[in-house]
Amino acid sequence: MSFPKGFYWGGATAANQCEGAWNVDGRGPALTDVTTGGSVKEPRYITYIDKDGKPGKMRSMGAVLPEGAKYAVLDDYYYPNHDGVDFYHRYKEDIALFAEMGFKMFRMSISWSRLYPNGDEEEPNQKGIDFYRSVFEECRKYNIEPLVTIHHFDTPLYLEEHYGGWTNRKLIEFYDRFAETCFREYKGLVKYWLTFNEINNTVMFLEMFGNTATDEMYQKAYQQLHYQFVASAHAVKKAHEIDPNYVVGCMICGITFYPGTCDPEDILLNRHTWEKGIFYCGDVQCKGKYPTYAKRLWDEHNVHLDITEQDLIDLKEGKVDMYTFSYYMSTVVTTHEVEEKVSGNFSAGAKNPYLNYSDWGWAFDPKGLRYYLEMIYDRYELPLMVVENGLGAFDKVEEDGSIHDPYRIDYLREHILDMEKAIENGVDLIGYTTWGCIDLVSAGTGEMRKRYGFIYVDKDDEGKGTFDRSRKDSFYWYKKVIASNGTDLD
Ligand code: BG6
Repeated sequence: MSFPKGFYWGGATAANQCEGAWNVDGRGPALTDVTTGGSVKEPRYITYIDKDGKPGKMRSMGAVLPEGAKYAVLDDYYYPNHDGVDFYHRYKEDIALFAEMGFKMFRMSISWSRLYPNGDEEEPNQKGIDFYRSVFEECRKYNIEPLVTIHHFDTPLYLEEHYGGWTNRKLIEFYDRFAETCFREYKGLVKYWLTFNEINNTVMFLEMFGNTATDEMYQKAYQQLHYQFVASAHAVKKAHEIDPNYVVGCMICGITFYPGTCDPEDILLNRHTWEKGIFYCGDVQCKGKYPTYAKRLWDEHNVHLDITEQDLIDLKEGKVDMYTFSYYMSTVVTTHEVEEKVSGNFSAGAKNPYLNYSDWGWAFDPKGLRYYLEMIYDRYELPLMVVENGLGAFDKVEEDGSIHDPYRIDYLREHILDMEKAIENGVDLIGYTTWGCIDLVSAGTGEMRKRYGFIYVDKDDEGKGTFDRSRKDSFYWYKKVIASNGTDLD
């Protein structure tokens, strides 16, 4: 048997994509609350009122709010994160379903603006504190270990508007306060923490979307990352001070990159893509210092960072205890002209003729997960967790209410088999939380119909439905997988 005793089988969610109740019990808005629904073809937009009072919208990735404009919720648009899948009111039912599957771990995030509605207050919102306490107690009731992401794509809107978001060093101070509150309030209920979800997206996505990103955009992205690295290091230090048993991890958007050809130019480009997209963040967070190639990356885009001596000390003292990552797909990089490109949400590069692609353009590549696990473990020798993996797919509800999702079972089974091989190869993998264990709002497209769950939620892309939960075939399958500690995958 390859999966170690006590392996953390479970599932993962994020507050902004599942809680809903966006303006309930004192919660302040986050950027995700002014982000519209989209699709694989139509991007999500951020909406605002411009300085002359006219409504406007901009693409949600990389855009800058026009001078004098204010973020706004507009009548003509639908904002799917507002009601999510109503986890806020239904968490007891949902956690009971996770327990029925035998979950050992449940990954979730804390909405910053539920604890600090604007983000810069001195004192937290008690109702927010109480809500998460109750969620963690519910998990504990079933011996489910919570894995808590402190920041998952949802900086309070007020901080974006009044401080310019993460380009402002002040954000470190606000994040420090928020993280410390979490560590103090939930001591004894939570042991595992992640500081920032997919921290590497900020720079990696600029790269993935072609050569359109300007040096100014890189300057901003690298600076934001630096402040987040420092905030993450502070959080690690503070967590250990408050409870030496706390285990704090980084969380990287894991993509396996392959060279398109054996042309040495491609091999080098591929290595540099790993450095820029994946290693840069992992190296700083796991090794506590900037890697040697960082200077080359900054010089490429004429980037000059605000980094203090104290920051460098903090990075060294705030190394993470474990490396966690999401994994959905691999991608191909090449210096050559390509015949066919991948098109989908959050996916780019040349099409790999050896792989199949999902309806959203994501490559199905379980071996890429093994490759990633082995490479990363060798680099850091820290415990690893795969904290997101899964298939976003269309599901059909049959007349009798059943949902047959063999495609999801196949996807997960193959990834589990490759995780097992990595463990046999010496990798210290301690957990696996599949993404969207209950259907939720897609981060990339804002859709509901891009479903990942073992549990179906009756809600459509216009927000209509009963929000009732039901078990898919994969629910019963995953239950068997967990009960057999990964040996029964049929
Ligand atoms: C990761 C995020 O990027 O991928 C999640 O951490 C997200 O928040 C997941 O939902 C899947 O992406 P999508 O676009 O299918 O929701």
